[in-house]
Amino acid sequence: MRILTGIQSSGRPHLGNILGAIIPAIELSKKSGNESFLFIADLHTLTSLKDGEAIRNNTLAIAAAWLAFGFDTDKNFFYRQSKLAPYHTELMWYLNCFTPFPMLANAHSFKDKSSKLADVNAGLFTYPVLQAADIVLYDANIVPVGKDQRQHIEMTRDIASAVNRLAKQDIFVIPEAEISEEVMTIPGIDGQKMSKSLNNYIDIFLPEKDLLKQIKKIVTDTTPLEDPKDPENDITFKLFNLIASKEEIDQMRSNYLAGGFGYGHAKQALHEVMMRKFADAREKFDYYMNNPKIIEQKLEEGEKKVEPIAQKTIQRVREVFKF
Ligand code: TYM
Repeated sequence: MRILTGIQSSGRPHLGNILGAIIPAIELSKKSGNESFLFIADLHTLTSLKDGEAIRNNTLAIAAAWLAFGFDTDKNFFYRQSKLAPYHTELMWYLNCFTPFPMLANAHSFKDKSSKLADVNAGLFTYPVLQAADIVLYDANIVPVGKDQRQHIEMTRDIASAVNRLAKQDIFVIPEAEISEEVMTIPGIDGQKMSKSLNNYIDIFLPEKDLLKQIKKIVTDTTPLEDPKDPENDITFKLFNLIASKEEIDQMRSNYLAGGFGYGHAKQALHEVMMRKFADAREKFDYYMNNPKIIEQKLEEGEKKVEPIAQKTIQRVREVFKF
């Protein structure tokens, strides 16, 4: 099976990206018979961020996160979308011509911003078509993503099927989204979906004290310390629940229900479990960030390896139109 997923370089990787995409994609890549295409969607980034230096730094940080969580770049494919831009954007053009206008007008990524149309660039509007091209260019079967991407994968299936119907053959593999229930939508420190744009994210790669500061900002209700608390409606507990062991979670739940256990204690425990659970990844992340040349080299190798696959798909599509 071919597994494929991408992350934009619009900020540093956050806990939502890590639990929603990075860890599930790497787990899938380890299963025998699978090969994974994990990339940095830096062309997509340009829809929101135009500063080249910032895009570059974020790209390195996203790449370092993939590597820190153990992505095996020898066995798989690791690349920047921008370095294969001729293939991604050529295919996007063909797919654009199969994409009904109302489909794009209904995309959440556009609708969320459509109240201020002057701020919407054409890149943001056609964003899902570039994403569809990213996926079908490499014949991906499975796309592990967070819940916010479900609609984009549905669109990819519709657009690719329209080309297959016209060509009366399977030009494209029709992909499936893989969205794990428990990490579908990771909450941010304010309880809304964790995201770069809402600035409510947790950056697990921060120095220990700064990470604690971020965790302390998690919003809580005002139940007094001595009273019992409802774990199911608390953001700190929800995050703890995603990371800690079963025993630790059971213990934490009884602490909440018993009372005498404050949100400050819960946050301290969340910080501790993060430091422990991500100790290895944090160390490796720092190593790669201090050695950007190693990241660069791994990406360049991946980009060379992936190019013939992209070329082949483009060839197949061109034949349909006699180009
Ligand atoms: P992006 O960069 O916004 O997010 C990258 C991945 O992280 C997941 N994610 C979350 N999962 C759970 N809870 C959250 N709070 C959370 N925040 C982010 C996202 O669902 C995603 O899987 N359009 C994509 C990038 C992309 C792509 C692709 C993905 C471009 N081409 C092809 C898959 C296949 C995006 O903006 O992701």
